Amino acid sequence: MTTLGTPLSPSATRVMLLGSGELGKEVLIALQRLGVETLAVDRYENAPGQQVAHHARTITMSDPAQLKALIEAERPQLVVPEIEAIATPMLQELEDAGVVRVIPTARAARLTMDREGIRRLAAETLGVPTSPYKFCDSLAELQAAIDGGIGYPCIVKPVMSSSGKGQSKIDGPADVQKAWDYAMAGGRVSHGRVIVEGFIDFDYEITLLTVRAPDAAGVVQTQFCEPIGHVQVSGDYVESWQPHPMAPTALQLAQQIARTVTADLGGQGLFGVELFVKGDQVWFSEVSPRPHDTGMVTMATQWQNEFELHARAILGLPVDTTLKSPGASAVIYGGVDATGIAFDGVAEALVVPGVDLRLFGKPESFVKRRMGVALAHAADIDTARRNAKEAASRVKPRKA
Ligand SMILES: Nc1ncnc2c1ncn2[C@@H]1O[C@H](COP(=O)(O)OP(=O)(O)OP(=O)(O)O)[C@@H](O)[C@H]1O
Ligand SMILES: [Mg+2]
Repeated sequence: MTTLGTPLSPSATRVMLLGSGELGKEVLIALQRLGVETLAVDRYENAPGQQVAHHARTITMSDPAQLKALIEAERPQLVVPEIEAIATPMLQELEDAGVVRVIPTARAARLTMDREGIRRLAAETLGVPTSPYKFCDSLAELQAAIDGGIGYPCIVKPVMSSSGKGQSKIDGPADVQKAWDYAMAGGRVSHGRVIVEGFIDFDYEITLLTVRAPDAAGVVQTQFCEPIGHVQVSGDYVESWQPHPMAPTALQLAQQIARTVTADLGGQGLFGVELFVKGDQVWFSEVSPRPHDTGMVTMATQWQNEFELHARAILGLPVDTTLKSPGASAVIYGGVDATGIAFDGVAEALVVPGVDLRLFGKPESFVKRRMGVALAHAADIDTARRNAKEAASRVKPRKA
């Protein structure tokens, strides 16, 4: 699709985002800049992306009937999942019937919807190195998996969860029951299945943003952004920076793994490939077939940020993954449970050198909800990290 139309006219190129959080909002802005007609879907009203799209719809995206009805009524050319909790078998059905094209593919959305599909594909079909793992449906199975080879320490995660929800580390037999209970409480849909993974004692972890986009001849090529380093606290990203320095062998291996996994998932678009690195050893952890939260740093570091790369790739346009400057991002949490909060300290944050801010506009704040991000570019990543964190700490969310 290399011809673009005029929004709100019969020639319009129409794209539907399924999920309209802070990442979807930036994808929508990138699409808007190319004159694409945008439709932002979320499970609640006034989601960040709904505030910048031509049209907003609120449905339960995990409900196949609601999803089908909406797509058939709106008939977008492209459906772009932004979250995992979507009725992906229905997307597959609609794609198979030729009703719509799903980004990057309906199969990729289905396989990455929970931890099992993608882990089995990567480790068992593609032979990519991962942590040792087992899937378990009960506390007894979990204990048996640990005793049978996974060992201690290990990590337990609900098969359907993100941002570290329901995830915990087990250091010894005394922690097993607690980890199981925590996973049961924290999973997105409580179908009681978990993955237990051997703990990888990595030196660092990266997100390798990988783009599948057509070249001038229309052939899909794989391009990589510079590696993004990040810090996770309880499985949730708090800080990221780019470029993360890597030894040539490790970088080559990382790119090879990312290429293998994304080539199999197929289609066009940007992927966030999460990898663990120790010396020259690289393990695949997981992949998002869409922009990645740690990749928000690219708004400060790349000529085309990850959202612009995704927008271009899905429209069949060429991309440029070149780094502009080293930089960093630091998350701004809500800190309070309240609706319609106010942000003090914005001006104080913006005087930090090289800093920019995104406040997502989420209608409701929670103590641990991501409400904004501070971005910084600098001559080196240490300075950028320090400045991003300083700026983030100056923004003070409070009850209005
Ligand atoms: N097997 C492992 N060994 C060591 N650390 C791990 C392992 N699995 C996960 N972690 C740590 O926990 C973090 C979150 O894990 P993972 O990415 O699987 O969860 P998630 O809930 O999908 O998180 P997100 O949605 O934020 O990416 C990882 O980035 C890593 O820091
Ligand atoms: Mg992750």
